[in-house]
Amino acid sequence: MSRIAYVNGRYVDHDHAMVHIEDRGYQFADGVYEVCEVAHGNIMDMRRHLDRLDRSLSELRIEWPMARRSLEFVIGEVVRRNRVVNGLVYLQVTRGVARRDHAFPAPGTKPALVVTARRTDPEAARAKAEKGLRVITVPENRWDRVDIKTVGLLPNVLARQQAREAEAHEAWFVDAQGYVTEGAATNVWIVTREGVLVTRPAEHGILRGITRTTLMEVAASLGLSVEERAFTVEEAKRARECFITAATTVVMPVVAIDDATVANGHPERSRIHCETPFLRLRKRPRPVNPAQEGCYPEPPVCVVPAGAGLVAPWA
Ligand code: PDD
Repeated sequence: MSRIAYVNGRYVDHDHAMVHIEDRGYQFADGVYEVCEVAHGNIMDMRRHLDRLDRSLSELRIEWPMARRSLEFVIGEVVRRNRVVNGLVYLQVTRGVARRDHAFPAPGTKPALVVTARRTDPEAARAKAEKGLRVITVPENRWDRVDIKTVGLLPNVLARQQAREAEAHEAWFVDAQGYVTEGAATNVWIVTREGVLVTRPAEHGILRGITRTTLMEVAASLGLSVEERAFTVEEAKRARECFITAATTVVMPVVAIDDATVANGHPERSRIHCETPFLRLRKRPRPVNPAQEGCYPEPPVCVVPAGAGLVAPWA
């Protein structure tokens, strides 16, 4: 089955999907993006992803490419047309196409919108989580507005590649004071010896991850203590557990930081504490009533059914 992408108003064959050579995303990384998880046919936390998109767009003074309701529809439609039950949906908005000039293009230049979706293998993710991940640490070298989810990700690309070349899965950025900021494409957590979940405050130096926010609520509902504070690499190495969160990984335990083994190399605990509630939420059946769009299955986890609420015929 061929994949379908949405590109500036059209659903097109993924292999032949194209944007203009003077798209400002291509020339200046002048754009923003979101990645949502699709689980059991539901687009997870779509409302929160679109709220963050709204914030990213307004920080960069880029217009919405279409009405929010229309974008929700397009996202659902791309998921549906690609028959994605478990996977990821990617959306990218750039400042549009204009003759190359660093300053903004003329008012009225339409933002460009691309939406793609692909399947992932939940079994492979489970197997990965069972073994746990290895991470390396790298000096923080990004700009100070990483709270905006821009497509300008070159430091993240180089850090992730460095991790791969070191046979690790992720790279953690470490600031000049020795505190962990976040991963190349994930937020970072530790669990202290006292069982407190610790993650860096989202005001500065990190992206406020949607999975991070949801996990905080899951933790609160389980009566687990969460502390938002910075922690050093040394503290992470001594922690009872470490894990990372993102729409792409949900909750993934970390078993090694650079050359140090953490959590005795056993990832079980963070899976029990943190991943199980997520999996439980994700296993809820898809809603059959389109009117249920919005908060489903229960607040605060916001799940919007793919394909405008219709039951997917392939599921
Ligand atoms: N990355 N920090 C960074 C730098 C990220 O790129 C991401 C997500 C996160 C986690 O955010 P969320 O929980 O909303 O996915 C934190 C996406 C998945 C990516 O670039 O592929």
